[in-house]
Amino acid sequence: MKIAISGKGGVGKSTISAIFCEALRELGKRVLAIDSDPSPHLARLLGFPEPEKIVPIAQMTELLEERSGRQGPFYNLNPKVDDLPERFLLERDRIKLMVVGAVQKGGGGCACAENTVLRNLVNALLLEPEDAIVMDMEAGVEHLGRGTIQSVDHLLIVVEPYKGSLETAKKIERLARDIGLENTRIVANKVSTDEDREFIEEGLGVKVFLSIPYDPELRAAERRGGRLYEYCPVAIKELVKDAIKRLEG
Ligand SMILES: Nc1ncnc2c1ncn2[C@@H]1O[C@H](COP(=O)(O)OP(=O)(O)O)[C@@H](O)[C@H]1O
Ligand SMILES: [Mg+2]
Repeated sequence: MKIAISGKGGVGKSTISAIFCEALRELGKRVLAIDSDPSPHLARLLGFPEPEKIVPIAQMTELLEERSGRQGPFYNLNPKVDDLPERFLLERDRIKLMVVGAVQKGGGGCACAENTVLRNLVNALLLEPEDAIVMDMEAGVEHLGRGTIQSVDHLLIVVEPYKGSLETAKKIERLARDIGLENTRIVANKVSTDEDREFIEEGLGVKVFLSIPYDPELRAAERRGGRLYEYCPVAIKELVKDAIKRLEG
């Protein structure tokens, strides 16, 4: 199962990605987490002790081109997650992590090369039934234009109960449909009241797939640092596991 988690900046994509990774692991999956935010946090939220040791996928471009021209070995071989070069991974407790990184160029340059690598990689990876990929996307809509997530099984769009986040969600949904992604679902985050949820459902005209309450423990856990899941309330872990089972159908 390949899941991408998208939405406006600050809505909780990385928090929810971390909880999904850990919940999938507890459900017996082997997880590949991909942090594609240009300023990556997922390693920290997953409690990897030395996040700086990871080599970003951005640098894989060169490696692939060096080895076998533009195509690179991954795209021809139908690789398995186990074939990914260790240099580009951190691994702990059945969770592997890759970081896209970004070569941010001034003057509106794009991170095209690394996103091409990411897209081809995600498209080509052959998953066993026990494999799951969770992609923590960069904020906003740009990744949809690049087709990075064309081959995901589920696109989760995270929204908070405020207008700006709904506007971004609508754009994401529209662009997703343009690239043929039908399986989009709304994850409402930081929901405090029934009105919050109604505001989201009325604003988007669809039912919320998963609703995660506002919980000060999550915020405190992020501030404290270390592995977020250890401080995640059990009720939220259960909500996420239930959502995963529904995704699996
Ligand atoms: N359900 C929640 N309850 C309380 N705080 C949350 C919740 N989800 C996320 N947060 C907090 O919101 C902030 C932004 O979350 P983050 O996951 O970094 O967002 P994003 O990756 O979308 O930019 C962080 O301080 C995080 O701890
Ligand atoms: Mg983030």
